[in-house]
Amino acid sequence: MTTVTTIDRLGDHTGQTVTLRGWQHNRTGKGKMMFLTMRDGTGFVQCVVKKGNVDDATFEALSGAGQESSMTLTGEVKADDRAPGGFEIVASAAEVLQSVQDYPITPKEHGADFLLSRRHLWLRSKRPWAVMRIRDAVITAIRNFYDERGFVCIDSPMFTPAACEGTSNLFAVDYFGEESAYLTQSGQLYAEASAAAFGKVYCFGPTFRAEKSKTRRHLTEFWMLEPEVAFADLDEVMQLAEDMIVYVVGQVLERRKPELEALDRDLSKLTCIQGNFPRITYKEASKILLEHPDSEFVAGDDFGAPDETILSAMHDQPVLITNYPKSVKAFYMKEDPEDPSQVLCVDMIAPEGVGEIIGGSQREENMDKLQEAIDHHELPMDEFQWYLDLRRFGSVPHSGFGLGLERTVGWICGLEHVRETAPYPRMMGRIRP
Ligand code: 4AD
Ligand code: MG
Repeated sequence: MTTVTTIDRLGDHTGQTVTLRGWQHNRTGKGKMMFLTMRDGTGFVQCVVKKGNVDDATFEALSGAGQESSMTLTGEVKADDRAPGGFEIVASAAEVLQSVQDYPITPKEHGADFLLSRRHLWLRSKRPWAVMRIRDAVITAIRNFYDERGFVCIDSPMFTPAACEGTSNLFAVDYFGEESAYLTQSGQLYAEASAAAFGKVYCFGPTFRAEKSKTRRHLTEFWMLEPEVAFADLDEVMQLAEDMIVYVVGQVLERRKPELEALDRDLSKLTCIQGNFPRITYKEASKILLEHPDSEFVAGDDFGAPDETILSAMHDQPVLITNYPKSVKAFYMKEDPEDPSQVLCVDMIAPEGVGEIIGGSQREENMDKLQEAIDHHELPMDEFQWYLDLRRFGSVPHSGFGLGLERTVGWICGLEHVRETAPYPRMMGRIRP
């Protein structure tokens, strides 16, 4: 019996004979030599199979086994600088568990729709492998970041009776005949209650928006990380957001280099994320856009995707834009004491045209102002009584933000479309597989 190991641990076994368990990713060569790329989920490795080194029956079985055939393979681990991953296996034995023919996803180019319809298989390919492992490292980094800073993870519910982020993109559900029941758009309102109970909290889970637009930035189901901090003002959570991004990018660079390389990611775009992000106000950003020849921005409007692209292209690092007009933002944001037409809010715009990855604000802690805002937004006051309790009983200044996981992963990976950053993306017109 040889040691069973995984491809990511080959470095611990240089010169030894080990057994790998996985799938055939690719095969080339003819005659007495075969080069077989094996994958096992932890990585990809080239295995050299030579007639004579393995018995004839094994050689035949491997020669007849197509892409994604499952197998175990035993061989010597050789360090080789030219090999991707730095190691190569010289096979001495193998067993084909299932010999497969005609796997639908071949090494040739396939269209996005073809691949998305086969996402359950596409996940085995190298690109999704790299993206999903980076997503995993981002999630771990986020949780560690908050854990190290004394935050408590308190998750918000997915079923809610009211809107948090406007009423136009709600998914209604049949909740035992309740008149209003929806999938949550954001865990924020509950995170505010949790912050009053635990001080510094975050929730991290799926959120849902019935986005009727097909853009490269929108999913109908996406994950949001939402820290909420009692007694914090906007500046404090802006600094928190910046520190978190620097930390997360640093962790991905440290833990997922091979994956970034598999994606041909320009690492200089990530190593420059060091902090001191540029900060501008909505008014300053508006001025830039109004003077920009390619912008169709109308003064007083929210920024559209093309506007965010222009603003983000001006900097290597994410940009923090603050103090938007009240009219374009959510009901719970605190009025700017220096200009009541504005709110104390922030959007973080990622570089390279990615656009908004974070939206946050100081929250309105004044009971009367908040009630006015709920009325003004025509939200059902009854459903917000529990939320108003937070202003009735020990109201304090507090602030928080939401980070879109998929957009953040898309930016870090350098992807064009967020759909590649979710394991099983949900968008308008796509609910399968
Ligand atoms: O700016 P948003 O709508 O903010 C909120 O929901 C706040 N309640 C968060 C808070 O303060 N706790 O959404 C936050 C982030 C966006 O910046 C974006 O990254 C992401 O969520 N996001 C989406 N990602 C993918 N698809 C969509 N349809 C998204 N909508 C928002
Ligand atoms: Mg937003």
